Amino acid sequence: MADTLRRAQLVREKLVEILGAGERVEVVKAPGRVNLIGEHTDYNDGFVLPAAVDREIIMAASPRDDDEVHLYALDLNSRSSFSLDRIEPDKQANWSNYIRGVLLLLKERGLPVRGMNAVFSGDVPVAAGMSSSAALEMATGVTAAAIGEFAVDMVELVKVAQAAENNFVGVNCGIMDQFISGLGKRGHALFLDCRSLDYELVPLPSNDEYKIVIANTMVKRGLVDSAYNERRSQCEMGVEILKEYLPGIKALRDVSPADFAKYKDKLPPVVAKRCEHIVFENERVKDSVKALRAGDVEEFGRLMRASHESLRDLYEVSCKELDIMVEAAWEAPGTCGARMTGAGFGGCTVNLVRAEAVDEFVAFVKARYAEETGNDPEIYVCEAEDGAKRLEL
Ligand code: GLA
Repeated sequence: MADTLRRAQLVREKLVEILGAGERVEVVKAPGRVNLIGEHTDYNDGFVLPAAVDREIIMAASPRDDDEVHLYALDLNSRSSFSLDRIEPDKQANWSNYIRGVLLLLKERGLPVRGMNAVFSGDVPVAAGMSSSAALEMATGVTAAAIGEFAVDMVELVKVAQAAENNFVGVNCGIMDQFISGLGKRGHALFLDCRSLDYELVPLPSNDEYKIVIANTMVKRGLVDSAYNERRSQCEMGVEILKEYLPGIKALRDVSPADFAKYKDKLPPVVAKRCEHIVFENERVKDSVKALRAGDVEEFGRLMRASHESLRDLYEVSCKELDIMVEAAWEAPGTCGARMTGAGFGGCTVNLVRAEAVDEFVAFVKARYAEETGNDPEIYVCEAEDGAKRLEL
């Protein structure tokens, strides 16, 4: 929280200094996220269990009297401006497209978006699988509502943010990242049904006992876009074929492990592997919620491990560096569970670690990873935090 307030003060000062601000200044935060379990299930109408973390984007904004939007990305020292009458992608300042997309879609929904000056800064690592883009989108949505003085339901904002990323930025993501950045809660994970958007908050073991540790391989997720889209179409193909035997199914979410066992040999081998991951990953998410509610951290750790193995062997979205980082964690002192998190092909692992052993864990994993890859990883000891909101300074 101390960091949040310091950054918020700084962003506000930069707004006044660089773009100028009137009397009214709104300051908003939106967090990055870590997915504890339930990977690649969101676009299969399935279940996920992410948490918002204490790494966030802070945006400070002040309304203008015209229809212009002037933006400054403090960490990149980059500006972008446009008029609300004509919102088009900016090919130079790519980062601004997340903001442009959200404002355009809010306008298209008839909401009274106003011109503004806005500055933002954050500590969510970029392109690391911690959803810095979802955080920027959600920060934009909450800022636009504060500046335009309109009320909008957080789940609606989440949908707008996802649509902006799909249709304006052109990334075909599911709904998990925006949802958790909008609706996360301190001390909790969020169990989300990605079909109905019903959700439950699941208390995490106390911070004094267990820490969420995120380990960054420092490998930027290179292959991710094409491989992500390929996985999506393989899942869709699986549904098309299985429909002949299981009429009424709409997505892999509707296929039970028993039905899958009956019909899996009707699928081409690669498609069968992809579908098997999804069918059992959904079960693992539901089992994880039960385990966490029962305080059975060991069982949760076992499920995290099974999830990683399935992502590595069946869904094939891990990579050498993620496997090395996870294997190091499995051997490290204090580990309850470890797996890759996010889309894959680089980015981060997530680890649940006994609090008293966290320093040893970090030292062990850092050294092992550096020895085996020659790269220095970054490791973030995190807490589950609240989702996007206005800050009172
Ligand atoms: C990315 C996407 C999410 C989700 C994950 C994989 O983070 O943005 O919607 O599909 O990959 O679980």
